[in-house]
Amino acid sequence: MAGIQSQATFHELLAQYDLALARLGQSHDELLARVSELQSEVARKNDLLAHKERLAALGEVAAGVAHEIRNPLGGIRLYLDLLDQCGLSADGAATVEKIRRVVSRLDRVVRDVLLHSRELQVQARGVTLCSIIMDAVNCAAQEMGDGAITLDVEVDEGQVRLDPDLTSRLVLNLLANAVQAMPDGGTLRVLGRLTTECCTITVEDEGPGIAPERLGSLFSPFFTTKASGTGLGLSLCRKIAQAQGGAMEAENRPQGGARFICRLPRVRT
Ligand SMILES: Nc1ncnc2c1ncn2[C@@H]1O[C@H](COP(=O)(O)OP(=O)(O)OP(=O)(O)O)[C@@H](O)[C@H]1O
Ligand SMILES: [Mg+2]
Repeated sequence: MAGIQSQATFHELLAQYDLALARLGQSHDELLARVSELQSEVARKNDLLAHKERLAALGEVAAGVAHEIRNPLGGIRLYLDLLDQCGLSADGAATVEKIRRVVSRLDRVVRDVLLHSRELQVQARGVTLCSIIMDAVNCAAQEMGDGAITLDVEVDEGQVRLDPDLTSRLVLNLLANAVQAMPDGGTLRVLGRLTTECCTITVEDEGPGIAPERLGSLFSPFFTTKASGTGLGLSLCRKIAQAQGGAMEAENRPQGGARFICRLPRVRT
């Protein structure tokens, strides 16, 4: 009787041992799978870090170059003003105007690179939405040239609490893109809308619009489809919007052309 009992206990023990062994095996497999997952995660993070370090190094070089270019650009502007005062012929004046436009574009690109390579310092203050938008419109007008672009600006009256320089820069980049999208002219619409909580700036053009597969990449740094583009314009727009608690969106208009929408909180809390 005692023999049978001890045999049963032995079998029970064996069964428990097998169970424990099976569980241990399972945990071991799970652990191995987790270790392999973590190893891949570490490798991915290392790649990302290396990529970020390369970008940061590139950013520093770009910022240095951009800085060096800004001063001579200021000099060129001064010489153009002097030339203007020399009583130029109509052709000469037109050439000076063309150079001024190119300098203006270069200046925008250089400023974009500089802003991109730094942490944005947002300096919000009370301003009218109209002054922000008109600042950008006046700058864009310098880049527009004689292309048959009709500007249609509609802005709600009212104050916002935003960084006027950064927000103007955001709008200017949207306007520059719209102008570049319509080399043969068209209507460029800028809408500024205010509600109690929100400030929405929309820029619409009648260009070719955006290919659906590109909609997801537009705001990534260095994404460009232009031969002389840096691909920093929209990325900077998003950075400026986000730094002020807002967001950017891009879509195609049903009637053709692109629409870029910037939504910002009217007052930051
Ligand atoms: N209004 C628009 N219509 C059609 N495509 C646009 C428009 N705005 C931007 N894009 C697309 O988004 C890309 C990225 O724009 P982004 O402003 O970031 O760079 P870029 O204009 O190419 O160069 P940069 O602004 O630095 O001179 C453009 O190259 C273009 O393909
Ligand atoms: Mg651009």
